[in-house]
Amino acid sequence: MPHTGLLRHDQTLFRDPDVFEPTYLPEHLHHRDAQVQEIAFLLQPALRGGSALSAVLRGLPGTGKTTTVRRVFAAITEETRRVAPVYVNCRHDHSALAVYRSIFRQVCGYPAGRHLDEIKQGIAARLRDRDAALVVCLDDADELIVAGIYNTILYQILRLYEKWDVRKAGVFAVTSDLARNLYAEADASVRSVFHPAEVNFPPYTRAEIREILADRVRQGLYPRVLPPPLLDRIAVIAAGEQDVRVGIDLVRAAVLRAEKDGRRRVTHADVTAAARTVMAPGLNSRIAALSAGERTLLSWIAERSSEGGDMASGAVFEAAQGYLAVGKTTYHEHLKRLAEAGFLDLVPRTGRGREVRLRYDATEVAAACRSPDRTPKTPDRV
Ligand SMILES: Nc1ncnc2c1ncn2[C@@H]1O[C@H](COP(=O)(O)OP(=O)(O)OP(=O)(O)O)[C@@H](O)[C@H]1O
Ligand SMILES: [Mg+2]
Repeated sequence: MPHTGLLRHDQTLFRDPDVFEPTYLPEHLHHRDAQVQEIAFLLQPALRGGSALSAVLRGLPGTGKTTTVRRVFAAITEETRRVAPVYVNCRHDHSALAVYRSIFRQVCGYPAGRHLDEIKQGIAARLRDRDAALVVCLDDADELIVAGIYNTILYQILRLYEKWDVRKAGVFAVTSDLARNLYAEADASVRSVFHPAEVNFPPYTRAEIREILADRVRQGLYPRVLPPPLLDRIAVIAAGEQDVRVGIDLVRAAVLRAEKDGRRRVTHADVTAAARTVMAPGLNSRIAALSAGERTLLSWIAERSSEGGDMASGAVFEAAQGYLAVGKTTYHEHLKRLAEAGFLDLVPRTGRGREVRLRYDATEVAAACRSPDRTPKTPDRV
C-alpha cells in the first residue's frame, strides 16, 4: 500500500480476513503443549494397531479445546490411515441420526443415507476394511445430555466392537461447563467401558492471550495497522473476560472501524467503540448483578479513573467520603467484591497500600453503570 494518509476505497487493512473467522484453524497452537501431548498419548495405542483411550476434556469457553482437538486430528489424518479421527459438533448434531451421519461422512468420505442401522453398519464395514481405530470427539457433549442420548451414544460407540469385528473406539467428550462431570453422567453400563483420562484447559493468562493475538495479527493484518499498545489493551480486556475469542473479535471489529473511516491505523477510539459492541452485553448484565452499593462505588471509581485521579485505594476512599456515605469496612467489602467479580484489580503499590485498577475502559464502565435500565430508582443503601 502506498503511504498516503488515507485508504482508497478498494484497499483493505486485512492481509487475510479468514484468520479472524471462528472456524479458522491456527497454524500454531500456543501454550497447549501439555494438552496436545496428553491427547497424542491417548491415541498412541491406536497408532500401534490397538485401540485409542478415552478422555474428558474440560475448560471454560475460549480455552482452546476445540482448536486443540482439531489440530491433533488434522495431524493424525496426515500421518496415518490406521486411526479414523472424527469430530462431532454436538451443538449442531444432537440427535442420534445426526451424530451417526456426521461420523459416517467423516469415516466413509461421502454423505450417509437416512437409516440408522445402515449408517452404523456402513461405519463399521469401512473401519474394518481400513483396519482403522475409530476416535470420536463429542464436542460440547453436554448437548447430548440435554437431548437425553448421551448414554446411548456412548454405549453404542464404545461397544461397537461387540457387534462388529472392529477395534474398540476411543471417545473424547468435551465440555465448557466446569460444574458438569461427564464421567459421572455416564451410567454403569457405559462406565464399565469408559475410563476417561481428564485433560484440563486452564484459562490463558494475559501474556498468553497477547501472544495468541499477536500471532493472529501478524497473519491477518498488514504491518503497523494495530499499534502494540492497542494490542496490549485488547489483551487486557480479553484476559478480564478470560476468553481469547473476545480478543480476536475486538481486533477484527476495531480494524473494520478504521477501514470504514478510510484510516490505515487503528486508534484508541476504534478499540473503545469495538469494545462497546463486542463486550457491552456482557458488561451490562454483570453490572446489573451487583448490589446498589457496589455499583455506585464502581461507577464512582470509573469516573475518577477517567479523570486521571489518584487511584491509591486509600485516596479513593478519602475522596469517596464526600459523595458516598460509606464506612471503611463496607468500602473494603465492596472493593473486594468488585475485584472478585473481575471489574478491577487491587495491585500492590511499592511502598504501601494498593492501587485500584479498572480492567475495562473507564468511560465504558461509567456508561454501563449509568445506563437507564440499571440506575436504581431509590437512593443507594450503602
Ligand atoms: N492456543 C491457541 N493458539 C491460537 N489460537 C487459539 C488458541 N486457543 C484458542 N485459540 C483461538 O481462540 C478461539 C477459541 O478457541 P476454541 O474454539 O478452541 O475454544 P473452546 O475451548 O473450544 O471454547 P468453547 O468452550 O466456547 O467451545 C478460536 O478462534 C481459536 O482459534
Ligand atoms: Mg469449543
